[in-house]
Order: sequence, then C-alpha cells, then structure tokens
Amino acid sequence: MARIGIFGAGYVGLVTGACFADLGHEVVVRDILPERIARLQAGEVPIYEPGLEQVMERNRDRIAFTLDVAEAVDGAEFLYVAVGTPPTESGDADLSAVWSVIDELPQDVPGRPVVVMKSTVPVGTGDHVRRRLDDRGLTNIGYVSNPEFLAEGSAVRDFMNPDRIVIGAFEEADGDRVLGLHSGIDAEVLRTDVASAELVKLAANAFLSTRISFINEIANVCELVGADVTDVARGVGLDHRLGPHFLRAGIGFGGSCFPKDVSALKQLAGNSGYPFMLLQAVWEVNELQKKRVVQKLQKHLGPLRGKTVALLGLAFKPNTDDMREAPSRVIAYRLLAEGAEVHAWDPVAHPDDLKGIDLCDTVLDAVRGADAAVIVTEWPELRELASAEVREAMARPLIVDGRNLLDPAATRAAGFQYEGIGRPRHASPAEPPARPSEVAR
Ligand code: UDX
Repeated sequence: MARIGIFGAGYVGLVTGACFADLGHEVVVRDILPERIARLQAGEVPIYEPGLEQVMERNRDRIAFTLDVAEAVDGAEFLYVAVGTPPTESGDADLSAVWSVIDELPQDVPGRPVVVMKSTVPVGTGDHVRRRLDDRGLTNIGYVSNPEFLAEGSAVRDFMNPDRIVIGAFEEADGDRVLGLHSGIDAEVLRTDVASAELVKLAANAFLSTRISFINEIANVCELVGADVTDVARGVGLDHRLGPHFLRAGIGFGGSCFPKDVSALKQLAGNSGYPFMLLQAVWEVNELQKKRVVQKLQKHLGPLRGKTVALLGLAFKPNTDDMREAPSRVIAYRLLAEGAEVHAWDPVAHPDDLKGIDLCDTVLDAVRGADAAVIVTEWPELRELASAEVREAMARPLIVDGRNLLDPAATRAAGFQYEGIGRPRHASPAEPPARPSEVAR
C-alpha cells in the first residue's frame, strides 16, 4: 500500500483522498485554508457529497489533514495535485494554485515521488511543470497526468467505478506506479502521452457541453414548430451511435467544470492559432438559454416590475450544494434587474452572496404570493410541486419548468398554467396555443 499526499481539500481532493484510503492507502490531505483543515480534523466533511462522509468515517485512521506541506510530502510516493483552476477574465485557466503547490515542494525530497495532476489544466502544463522541476534540480520527481472525471453528486461512485482511467506519463514506469494505485478498481485503462491525457479531459467536457447546447437549441426549435423535445431527445438517443446521455434540455449547464472547460479549450485553441468556432457557439447558446426563462415569464406576466417570482432550486444541479456558475445566479439577477421580487428555495444550497433575494426555508414559503414559480434545479421533492396547497398559496398558478421535471398534462389538470422547455403549449381553456409569432425568441 502506498503513501499519498494530496494537495487541495476541495471536491476532487477529498473524494480522491477518501477513495484511495478506502483502497487501503495512507493519505495526507493538505490545504491552505485553516478553517477547512480544522473542520476536517474534527471529523466534519465540509462539502455535501453523497457517500463521502461514510467513506471518510470508515477510513479515519488512514486519512490525515494538514496545513503543512512537509507533512504531506514526508514519505509520500505520490503527490496528487487537486487544487482549483478557475477561469481568469480572459478565459484562460488560472494556474496560480498549481504553481504554488509545485514551487512549495521541498528541495530535498528523497526517492522518486510522482506528481500526479488531477486538476484540469491546459494542454502543455505537464511540460511546463516538468521544466520547472528540472530547473530546480528536482529530476528525481516524476510527473503523470491522471485527469478526474468525477461528477458532483456521484463522485464517490464515479471514482470507484470509472468509465476509464487515463494515465499520461513522461516515463512509462511512473505511469505503471500510478496505475498500480488503482488496484481494486475495474475500468478500461488508457495509457498515453501527457498532452493527450490533458486534452482528453477538456475534450470530454466540451463534447458533453456541446450535446447540452445542441439539445437546448433543438428545444428552442421545438417551441416554434410544436414538437416535444423530450420525445425528440429520446428518439435521437435510441441511435446507438449517439446514446441517450446528456440530451436533457433545460436552462443551460453550470457547475465548476463545463463552463470552465469549454472556456479553457476555446482559449487554448485560440492561443494556439485555431479559432474553435463550435465551442464559441456552445458557450453563447448556454448564456442565451439561461435568459430565455425570463422571456418566458414576460410572455405570461408582461413587465416583471413588482411581480414576485419563486426560484425553486439554486444549486447548478440536484444532489449538490454547489453554486459555482449556477444558472440560478444569472436568472436571479436578471429578474432583479427587471424589477421583480425574487424568492428562492433550495434544500441544501444556502448561498450568502445572492444579494437582494429572499431565501426561504420551504417551497411553500417561496411560492406564497408568487406570480410564477420557476423550477431551476430538478430536485426530486419538486416532483410534487403541482399540489392544491401550492396552487392556493400562489398569487397566480404559473409554473415555468426549466428542467422539464413535471408532467405537463397532470400539471395543467391540477389547475396550473405550465410552460416547460421545448414542449408544446397544448390548448387548455385558459391558455390557447401560441402562434409562432407569439413565441419569445
Ligand atoms: C461534469 C462531468 O460530468 C464530469 O465528468 C467532470 O469531471 C466535471 O464536470 P458536474 O459538473 O459535476 O460533472 O455535473 P454534470 O452532472 O455533468 O452536469 C453539468 C451541468 O450540465 C449541470 O448544470 C446539469 O444541469 C447540466 N446538464 C446535464 C443538462 O443541462 N442536461 C443534461 O442532459 C445533462
């Protein structure tokens, strides 16, 4: 069993650390945030990730937390880098946290520890790290790119049952050792050079984002021609060459990965002399998609000044409290800019930086007196939204279903006006079908 130092106690670092401990390795996780480390040392898990707490709990004697670089490096055969690489204003990835880790590695590390890059980094970062280590004479430290493909909400399961393990190494033997760490995990293995491993991660996330923007555009066309995107997506996904995944139309993608990686790949291509036009469109479609919800509200309510809108769900997707790049942020501030009053509810995300928004404890509190309720995140508890209690609490029983979570016919039968994404507006006595010219663009 190996000793592993992990830099970064965020989603990726904690899940990686906990899962490696579960596979029997000795893990030390290092972060620069004193409060985070103190909580972890006290046995708390500072993020919401299903299953993580249990894995941490049963491996307590194999996982330690520290602020001290030396403690994480001491005796470690592997040094995992799992720090954040957020986009800068220019769209490039901010690698300052990666460089701090590399530059803080002590001068006299014995043996042959391997730096393993988990963070998503631009292609070429491995070469750059190699040069920087060599310039300091740290030629005994190996380097391997081993990108993570963890989706929040299922990260523990994804780590233990991955579709693939990608290992890009400068030295074959370093790659063998990193692969050896995964013994006990049954997965397809791809061995490659460092640059290709780096690009696999960006290309996979950009492709998934492309599928989402594609189906969102199909949804927008559905609204104009009277088709239903849920049926169209099902029919498209039944083609085995395409598959059913990531074809759910909605209000756009968010989170810590897709927006960042689309932007990073677009930027990387541009900086290398190739304008990646498809990704430019993927990005723009996603921005417009968030705002279309506001247009749908205006179509039903007219000007939004003085109207009350309940946002149901704030996290960028269910089963997480993550608010990074959440579409709810854009929708909330767009509504405020239109002069609406915004109520919001989420079962686990309670952001304190959404200014001017009334955070409510229950769905019922959020919808009370509201002129519309918008399903922003498909939390399972919202499946029951179309109840008599909710209808009576609202000033106007209008549901804009940004995730196509509800059954349109049942929702209308329960006395609500219903509008989804890319679904036909079937006739109901109070709601004649829209002519194309009436549909918001
Ligand atoms: C993603 C990748 O799945 C993971 O492999 C990578 O390592 C990190 O990025 P994550 O950001 O946790 O994981 O979320 P994911 O479940 O992939 O969803 C991303 C966004 O796309 C969410 O906002 C989600 O609502 C949206 N989405 C997803 C859709 O709008 N439609 C879909 O069909 C699927």
